[in-house]
Amino acid sequence: MTDTAAAGTILRLEKIVKTFPGVRALDGVDFELRRGEVHALMGENGAGKSTLMKVLAGMYQPDGGRIHIDGLRCVLPTPIAAKEQGVILVHQELSLAEEMTVAENIFLGELPRSRFGFVDWKVLNRRVGDILETLNVDFGPRTKVNRLSIAKKQMVEIARALTHDAKVVVFDEPTASLTDAEKTVLFDIIGDLQERGVGIVYISHRMEEIFRISDRISILRDGSYRGTLVTAETDEDEVTRAMIGRSLDLSRTSDARVAPGEVRLAVRDLSCGKLFRDVSFELRAGEVLGFYGLIGAGRTEIAETLFGLRRPSAGTVHLDGEAVRIGSPAEAIARGLSLVPESRKEQGLVLGMNCRDNITLPQIDRMTSGPFISGAREVEIYDKYQARLEIKAPSWRTMVKNLSGGNQQKIVIGKWLSMAPRVLIVDEPTRGIDVGSKSEIHNLIRELAASGLAVIVISSEMPEVLRVSDRIAAMHEGRLVTVFERDVVTEDDLIQAISGIGEHAA
Ligand SMILES: Nc1ncnc2c1ncn2[C@@H]1O[C@H](COP(=O)(O)OP(=O)(O)OP(=O)(O)O)[C@@H](O)[C@H]1O
Ligand SMILES: [Mg+2]
Repeated sequence: MTDTAAAGTILRLEKIVKTFPGVRALDGVDFELRRGEVHALMGENGAGKSTLMKVLAGMYQPDGGRIHIDGLRCVLPTPIAAKEQGVILVHQELSLAEEMTVAENIFLGELPRSRFGFVDWKVLNRRVGDILETLNVDFGPRTKVNRLSIAKKQMVEIARALTHDAKVVVFDEPTASLTDAEKTVLFDIIGDLQERGVGIVYISHRMEEIFRISDRISILRDGSYRGTLVTAETDEDEVTRAMIGRSLDLSRTSDARVAPGEVRLAVRDLSCGKLFRDVSFELRAGEVLGFYGLIGAGRTEIAETLFGLRRPSAGTVHLDGEAVRIGSPAEAIARGLSLVPESRKEQGLVLGMNCRDNITLPQIDRMTSGPFISGAREVEIYDKYQARLEIKAPSWRTMVKNLSGGNQQKIVIGKWLSMAPRVLIVDEPTRGIDVGSKSEIHNLIRELAASGLAVIVISSEMPEVLRVSDRIAAMHEGRLVTVFERDVVTEDDLIQAISGIGEHAA
């Protein structure tokens, strides 16, 4: 690197190595970040992105390599040390203390070190309050974190980053559960940080975001550095090829479609308080029904009600022609329903258990009155879904908490598929999943339907809904506006329907 190029450099990582048992997560990775730049970090699930950033944030100690901040070599033995050097990480997995308030979380771990001598909560709350105001959120510094939705928790993580004077801010998949409005706020904040000369590292699997906000893109593949591209001089195909070593072959798209069979699920005038009202639809065997709408439109709540997690205030549900009242997830499972939930970390996984047991867990529940499944059979089940979903793990014995974010999600999907359900509901199935695996999961959904399953796919991504669905239910503020046939619906129709405008508006 020449001195002139180094002039704007705020951070340089050199030959970083990090190994875990059975995995070389980082194999001599270089990375350079400039003042005021948004530098995207891309790579498949398990490529090493989060690990590299955890090394930078003092959470992991590298086995080799050097870190320079502002031209000075530094060692970052703890997250506090990294923060003192001006490095702030907004985590991919939310890492908040649920029982504490927003302000307490923001200053967690630092309070004893505060220069005030004692903790002046009035001052801290006011400072946090000011920042929350710029973020345009509807909660305050004294709100308990466990009362917030995932999206709001993510905003708390972002507020934490803004509270500290940072030189480098790392966002690890920050938009995964943000609404469009929240995303716009985030991008404005990133713009402000840029103007102040802060260097920003931005991790995301969403190409449109990368091309919208980044200046450069560095790519990791299997723990190796694969080079840096200037965003304005590249395109999605080049980035994809660098990430997965080939172009995405969309001709491999499985477009298996079968004539829909019997009505499997019939929902009439289903309501749940203020969350959604008078929702009616039918779902046939062999069919994929997409639920499209903005975050907060009531889609997840419908899924939760069908699955027995919420009690409907009115309406009926028929499964295979029989009126059912599903009062708990256990009943839902017994009746052949599976739900791949939106917030997988909270609802989907036992982090301290291995990959195999997480996938076969619901079957063991179900097996209490039936024959036991053997360990060997369980491994067989795991192997099947590991191959199918391309789960990257050293072995079935690996604890789920040691998998990358995207691979954890694949485990949850595998878990619900392994139960061979009759009705499968998936909520945001490809959130956090890389481009290659994303199309695999779409193929899988189509194939599952072709094999006779009735599938509901909830998604906030229009291309995804259009790609996998036979019909698309558009939702707006708790109401099902209309159900479109995929073959005739246009993007405009969908946008209008979910915004509550146009001919379909209620
Ligand atoms: N604490 C850990 N113990 C063991 N292995 C780990 C640990 N953390 C990460 N790994 C492994 O290191 C590799 C890189 O994981 P990392 O989380 O950095 O991937 P990533 O690029 O962030 O992927 P994603 O897009 O899925 O978030 C993976 O194979 C993962 O299983
Ligand atoms: Mg990650």
